[in-house]
Amino acid sequence: MRQKIVAGNWKMNLDYNEGLSIFSEIINMVNDEVTGRQSVIVCCPYTYLHSLSQLAKNQPKVSVGAQNCHQEDAGAYTGEISARMIKSVGAAYVILGHSERRQHFGETNLVLSQKTNAVLSNSLKPIFCVGETLEERESGQFFDVIKSQISEGLFHLDAQQFGQVVLAYEPVWAIGTGKTATAAQAQEIHAFIRKEIATQFGQPVADETTVLYGGSCNPKNAKELFSQPDIDGGLIGGASLKSRDFVDVVKAFN
Ligand code: PGA
Repeated sequence: MRQKIVAGNWKMNLDYNEGLSIFSEIINMVNDEVTGRQSVIVCCPYTYLHSLSQLAKNQPKVSVGAQNCHQEDAGAYTGEISARMIKSVGAAYVILGHSERRQHFGETNLVLSQKTNAVLSNSLKPIFCVGETLEERESGQFFDVIKSQISEGLFHLDAQQFGQVVLAYEPVWAIGTGKTATAAQAQEIHAFIRKEIATQFGQPVADETTVLYGGSCNPKNAKELFSQPDIDGGLIGGASLKSRDFVDVVKAFN
């Protein structure tokens, strides 16, 4: 049985005190209300990672992640943060390849393959994002785009390393737009992603890989999305900024 996950992506939102109080609320609500076996991850700004990781220490269901890292462990890269640093403050996950990083910071599949190596070699788990733009969807290129994002970013790994990876399908046109992919559209891509993984690493590895959906996922649409056979949870932006909404998305599995 593959792991079910709901991960929050706070992006560049909330100040430190707001973040701490929302995270504490999330922990309390998860403990009081979540009866299923799903895992909850909150991916916060770097400067809150240590405090949130401390709060999550004895919480079996709740973990903390970063939203990016540099591909080197150390060096003359002013202003950058390495996977080693993220590991050293107690976080467990790192989002890689979010479309905002690809779009605004020029992250390529090659750089993302290097970042994946850095994350795995520091015993962290990547939440590796793929997804097509509106133009790519409308021109029908989306299967090819997603295939190259996965293969160029991840298919240099061996099966054991790949077993540490969480994937997230986030159609760019659905992120922060209120425009969700229909459950059928999302399921079609998730099934495609799983088929590509099976071709590369074999069916047992594909069956064990968690593939999240992201893009305007909220308490209203989460249940239908999560009930699809190849959708194993969500990567949640806007709705992760309010503890009530976020935990309601988590509870869509119950
Ligand atoms: P959204 O963002 O839920 O606000 O659409 C999702 C994401 O970018 O991870």
